[in-house]
Amino acid sequence: MNGDYQILAFCCQYCAYAAADLAGGLRLQYPPQVKIIQIPCTGKMDVLYALQAFEEGADAVMVAGCLPGDCHFLEGNYNAVRRVERVKHILQAIGLQPERIKMFHISSSMASRFVSAVEEMCSIVKELGPNPLRIDPKVVSEEKGDESE
Ligand code: FES
Repeated sequence: MNGDYQILAFCCQYCAYAAADLAGGLRLQYPPQVKIIQIPCTGKMDVLYALQAFEEGADAVMVAGCLPGDCHFLEGNYNAVRRVERVKHILQAIGLQPERIKMFHISSSMASRFVSAVEEMCSIVKELGPNPLRIDPKVVSEEKGDESE
């Protein structure tokens, strides 16, 4: 598998997003395949957001929130843990590997932890291969070519 994969990271603005920002400020390198989505709290991360990400071809989804007990909305990160577990069950039921989604707890000062979390997700994707739901553009163009004949 080449570097052509996509990881979506739902990051709480108070912690993991700030840690990603700090990693950038410290010039820590992390794989560019991760796309960060800033959310007000991981409690805002809905099961449907993750499923839609997979449906649209994401190879993995990481959810990164405040440390246990540090959520600014008290239980948002605990709700996120439950939702990630629910997504894992759904993925398993539809034939995708549940390892494709994972919850992390990262404080705003843990820049290197953010980097290692991204690297961990990258190695999981490399091991599992691409999301089978992702449409291969070559196949689509070949199919279109077949139709025009
Ligand atoms: Fe960070 Fe809730 S405010 S996870």
